[in-house]
Amino acid sequence: MFNQTEFLTEVPGSTHQKLKAWVDNIARFCEPDLVQWCDGSEEEYNRTTQLLVDKGTFIRLDPEKRPNSFACFSDPSDVARVEDRTFICSRTRSDAGPSNNWVEPREMKNTLEGLLKGCMRGRTLYVIPFCMGPLGSPLSKIGVQITDSEYVVVNMKIMTRMGSKVLDVLGEDGEFVKCLHTVGAPLESGQADAKWPCNPTTKYIVHFPEERYIVSYGSGYGGNALLGKKCFALRIATSIAKEEGWLAEHMLILGVESPEGEKTYVAAAFPSACGKTNFAMLIPPDSMAGWKVTTVGDDIAWIHPGEKGKLYAINPEAGFFGVAPGTNTKTNPNAMASISRNTIFTNVALTSDGDVWWEGMTKEVPAGLTNWQGQPHDPASGKPAAHANSRFTAPASQCPCIDSEWENPNGVPISAFIFGGRRSTAVPLVYQSFNWSFGVYLAATMGSETTAAAFGEIGKVRRDPYAMLPFLGYHMGDYFNHWLQFGRNLPNAPRIFGVNWFRKDDQGNFLWPGFGENMRVLKWIVLRVKGQGSAVESPIGWMPRYRDMDWTGLEDFTREDFAPIMAVDREAWKKELLAHEELFAQLYDKLPKEFYFMRELLLSSLWRSPEQWGLAPEQA
Ligand code: OXD
Ligand code: MN
Repeated sequence: MFNQTEFLTEVPGSTHQKLKAWVDNIARFCEPDLVQWCDGSEEEYNRTTQLLVDKGTFIRLDPEKRPNSFACFSDPSDVARVEDRTFICSRTRSDAGPSNNWVEPREMKNTLEGLLKGCMRGRTLYVIPFCMGPLGSPLSKIGVQITDSEYVVVNMKIMTRMGSKVLDVLGEDGEFVKCLHTVGAPLESGQADAKWPCNPTTKYIVHFPEERYIVSYGSGYGGNALLGKKCFALRIATSIAKEEGWLAEHMLILGVESPEGEKTYVAAAFPSACGKTNFAMLIPPDSMAGWKVTTVGDDIAWIHPGEKGKLYAINPEAGFFGVAPGTNTKTNPNAMASISRNTIFTNVALTSDGDVWWEGMTKEVPAGLTNWQGQPHDPASGKPAAHANSRFTAPASQCPCIDSEWENPNGVPISAFIFGGRRSTAVPLVYQSFNWSFGVYLAATMGSETTAAAFGEIGKVRRDPYAMLPFLGYHMGDYFNHWLQFGRNLPNAPRIFGVNWFRKDDQGNFLWPGFGENMRVLKWIVLRVKGQGSAVESPIGWMPRYRDMDWTGLEDFTREDFAPIMAVDREAWKKELLAHEELFAQLYDKLPKEFYFMRELLLSSLWRSPEQWGLAPEQA
């Protein structure tokens, strides 16, 4: 199945023999009832959403409250990415590295062939040509996803540029990434379909990086099934980027406009569910009049060296697949406006008047909710009405603060990288790396407390280098080396910063108000990039003193409040550095040797006291 080349299917509009041959092979092997090439039209979208309504998968929301929008509930076994079922099947185990699951490619193909034979019986095979990045941009890449899920078809319409126009760009022999997806639930004749077909026991999310091939079996959900996102734009793209000399990153991209109208773009990496979408759409506090944030992307950045040694980034996606819980008109009014229409909601709760609700949307829990499993919600049960990883899929173009350049085929110039995690202790609000290689160290050793979107125990610190742990298509050590080398070739590399919005006091209260107030941190970062902001040197980097940040309108956040959020506690950092050592031990064979020296240097500089580096509260 992976090697045959003959084809049968005549495709209107496509003259690409290899593509047609591949589709034909898969169709014969997976045995769908029908093959349908998606044209990407509105008519097709409306027809497919209606089909999902007829099947009982989609519920059409009240057309007045939420025009052209739908909700659906997934199978309870299919609610998140499955990292333990995600594989990087490179030729050798050492190419995948210890942070990825690996199986020898031929062995994996045998397993998959066993599962894929006849897997689409009773279903339609859809062919989705899609483009990651603006159509026609030299930085974009094309994929073709085969799927037997209508949910995937309509989500891909929002998340990517898809349909016939992509075939036009692909031409007769353009390159594309092959993406094969099935829910893994064939229907015997006469068998009724499930509302959320999937395979409750067997799931495989498999990448063959050298072949640029993705096979996803058994899940219909998000990053497991919308293969343009994590599978292509990160895992396969990282491996292409290493070869071609660019970066594919788990980063949002935002523009900061100063009162003088000067624009600075930054790219920021945070692990899943750390408020990335909120940060990407930040609204500055009223007291910082004149500052404005615009959004280029909320999840993934493809970054290329360009003119004058600068870096240019595109957002390969066309939509937001955002975490719903916690989103409201205060935390993220821009996201709320983005999802006011033309949106698909997955695993949120339904209100009795045909709208959606989730924990944190309003203080009051509305009466008469239907929970994410389609049951009447019982507030006394203590269980949430919406799943913690419930999502919205919405077109990026609907975002009120979308950047005017977001579809610029040449990307936007990046002046700074920001790395952040969810850390209740140790890590200060903001600090600037001394230089590029220290920045690589900082990003490589970042950690975050786990949440519902990630696999593992909730609340435990997991080392998540570059927020890329589940998204890297090759060996993590090779990736650090790629970043180091990439920086060496840049005459004026972007500055690198660490941030932490989530530090808590001993009673478990957040020390920082976050959200719009993060603009104060962003402003300091922008000034630093321009060589204007002042700072002092701490053991872990350059840090603002209280006086170095803009507090207009937040005067009740005092020096005394600032000190604990910036503290670099010696004992906590000794532990932190020990944890770095643990990560290094796993990656030892390919770890940059510089990292050992940097760790030693950090350890020795910790012996200076806060007074010595000018960060004691009275010096602030
Ligand atoms: C996401 C994730 O869905 O990072 O974006 O998990
Ligand atoms: Mn993400």
